[in-house]
Amino acid sequence: MKTVRDIKTLREMTRSWRQDGETIALVPTMGSLHQGHMRLVQLASEFAERVITSIYVNPAQFGPSEDFEAYPRPLDTDRRRLSRAGVDIMFAPDSEEIYPFGELQMTRVSVPGLSTILCGDRRPGHFDGVTSVVSRLFNIVQPDVAVFGQKDYQQLVIIRRMVEDLHLPIRILAGQTHREDDGLALSSRNRYLTDAQRAAAPTLYRAIGHCRKQLLAGDRNYAHLEQAGMDALQAAGFVAEYFSIRKPGDLSPPTPDSEYLVILAAARLGEARLIDNVLMEPANRARSTGT
Ligand code: PAF
Repeated sequence: MKTVRDIKTLREMTRSWRQDGETIALVPTMGSLHQGHMRLVQLASEFAERVITSIYVNPAQFGPSEDFEAYPRPLDTDRRRLSRAGVDIMFAPDSEEIYPFGELQMTRVSVPGLSTILCGDRRPGHFDGVTSVVSRLFNIVQPDVAVFGQKDYQQLVIIRRMVEDLHLPIRILAGQTHREDDGLALSSRNRYLTDAQRAAAPTLYRAIGHCRKQLLAGDRNYAHLEQAGMDALQAAGFVAEYFSIRKPGDLSPPTPDSEYLVILAAARLGEARLIDNVLMEPANRARSTGT
């Protein structure tokens, strides 16, 4: 595996792969890789001959009071994991490479509407930062396929919209959420949890699971189910931000006869902000990939 820090070298390598007829998958990350990321890498390798994983802690997607400085950056450990997984390039640019005009003068890519609801409502500007960096990574790498985790479901919907709206010839794949045995979704931010908070954290997934059961039993009182979810989180010591039932395609509110649903929740436990979601399809089939 090669570690590449500049766009020129990366493009030389991808150009030669393309000349040889090889397809390229990109797995964008902010590093601090866990088993969930490695599953995305594995999925990428099933859909393309070459795999590039980018590691870049993107300042543009962090709010002023968020954890940009504290965000873990174990680059050597990440490099070893990616190398063992057979990744071709670890692309680890610095901010001068990604934003040559600086953060204040950078061209921004924004997906209105979708970016200001749910997590976007709680983290103003966050998704504009995500789309601004992901569009650059897509331009730099020009992948055939890009892989994102389903855990960040709203991010996935926004990126799919951006790709469609900008006519980018990139297939977006979603990797299933990887969980601890007690249901807690893997996240680089789980390390902020104290032991007591870690013990309470699986309540997030449990509350979503309970809501799912009610929906499967035919309950369509969405407002009531959402309130019950919020109450369960508060009772377990979370500061609940939202607990919401939406349509999976565009995150709009569902009607009583909506067949496809997604239950999404975000809540804080001490320093950690946790998010999770479960997709519901008519036959209750879990979707792990898709375009
Ligand atoms: O999901 C993430 O880790 C980040 O939001 C992403 C997609 C790498 C953009 O910085």
